[in-house]
Amino acid sequence: MGNVHLIEHPLVQHKLTLMRKKEASTNSFRRLLNELAMLMAYEVTRDMHMQDIEIETPLEKMTGKVIDGKKLVFVSILRAGGGILDGMLSVVPGARVGHIGLYRDPKTLTAVEYYFKMPQNMHDRDVIVVDPMLATGNSAIAAVERLKELRPKSIKFVCLLTCPEGIKALQTAHPDVPIYTAAIDRQLNDHGYILPGLGDAGDRIFGTK
Ligand code: URA
Repeated sequence: MGNVHLIEHPLVQHKLTLMRKKEASTNSFRRLLNELAMLMAYEVTRDMHMQDIEIETPLEKMTGKVIDGKKLVFVSILRAGGGILDGMLSVVPGARVGHIGLYRDPKTLTAVEYYFKMPQNMHDRDVIVVDPMLATGNSAIAAVERLKELRPKSIKFVCLLTCPEGIKALQTAHPDVPIYTAAIDRQLNDHGYILPGLGDAGDRIFGTK
């Protein structure tokens, strides 16, 4: 599976297992997702461009390295992407944020767009698309297709969980987009849910079920 980064760090795996449990409360699910997103931000920004700046410590001058967080755009696929977005913003607070509203048609499972709002000058920015579940891949494919119209410098996709079907679909449509995930589960069921998965991420984040 080329271009898939499986984040196997023990802290990530531990938190993901706690989130999967059906008895995890909305509160703990949200908190764990937040923590996981911070850890995943660490991995996905590993190759971020840095620049040198001159600073002074209490003892002497030196050249330090900084990132330009403003060049980064987190694009959250509504509504579940918001759970990852919060955690990522807490480690890159200067990042810009875009939102894409897509819902899954329950019959066809295809993605229907209802909202699209991005920062300006996307051609000058690196995009990290976030959505907890890469299941059928339809939303991710539609989101990336739409984003490519704005010609950003790069696009990465971050999810908590995926499955072979989701990876295949996204990679077939967008082989240039790397996928970062904490787990590759067994399969999709007939309703487009990942097995064993963690259920409906949006409902679990927002307590809507
Ligand atoms: N979306 C979810 O929230 N859960 C799944 O298992 C698949 C898609």
